[in-house]
Amino acid sequence: MTDDLIYARKNPDLIDTLLKRRSVPMRLMGDPGPSPTDLETILRAGARVPDHGKLFPWWFITFQDQAREDFGDVLADAWAKREPRVTHEKLEDERKRFTRVPLVIAVISRPRTSTIPVWEQILSSGAACQNMCLAANALGYGANWVTEWYAFDDNVRAALKLEAQDHVAGFIYIGTPLTGPEERPRPDLSKLVNNDWQNASARGDEYAKNGLGYAVNGFSLAGFKPE
Ligand SMILES: Cc1cc2nc3c(=O)[nH]c(=O)nc-3n(C[C@H](O)[C@H](O)[C@H](O)COP(=O)(O)O)c2cc1C
Repeated sequence: MTDDLIYARKNPDLIDTLLKRRSVPMRLMGDPGPSPTDLETILRAGARVPDHGKLFPWWFITFQDQAREDFGDVLADAWAKREPRVTHEKLEDERKRFTRVPLVIAVISRPRTSTIPVWEQILSSGAACQNMCLAANALGYGANWVTEWYAFDDNVRAALKLEAQDHVAGFIYIGTPLTGPEERPRPDLSKLVNNDWQNASARGDEYAKNGLGYAVNGFSLAGFKPE
């Protein structure tokens, strides 16, 4: 099977995708979702990522059809617990979250007890998310990797039977683009790349100097404390 491996092969289409890729907001996606064959391809791409120690420290949950609505009830209940005075309209919006697209894949990071640093195991789950997004794009679907509030909500975590060390690395929303999204600002490489390694820490992160270096959105990962 070694002949089937790809480690260096000219692929201009892939470069084009990497340089022009764009997430598609949920409101711009609709039916159809991936066929069973396409879904399997997306999941296999997600499982084929750099993973120090061959630990497979992640797992995936697919939400399609009725499961999206059932999970919507979990989201609505969880939101009502956070906001007891929530309006009926807001609750119904929460209930409909997963029905915005035909397929949502949750990527769960579950670090193993290992000599491999937990941080590296978590990073691997991020690679799984991005591989799935790219695979979906290459099959003609739009994708959006989000966490939103419910990735961090204790009641939602309990419904997913997550353990203390688990994190939702992402909910990957996948569907057929109804229209193209607009471009968003992209970083200027000259502000990110520095070949002066001794001074790179002080000089390299130009964006931090503009006050954009650290975004706090009210959530924090377990065990992760912003300075
Ligand atoms: C771990 C992670 C979580 C994210 N969560 C959200 C989110 O909750 N809401 C959101 O609008 N974008 C979220 N994003 C950003 C989108 O995935 C997407 O990258 C962003 O909209 C920019 O679009 P682009 O992928 O075309 O650059 C998240 C990205 C990452 C890596």
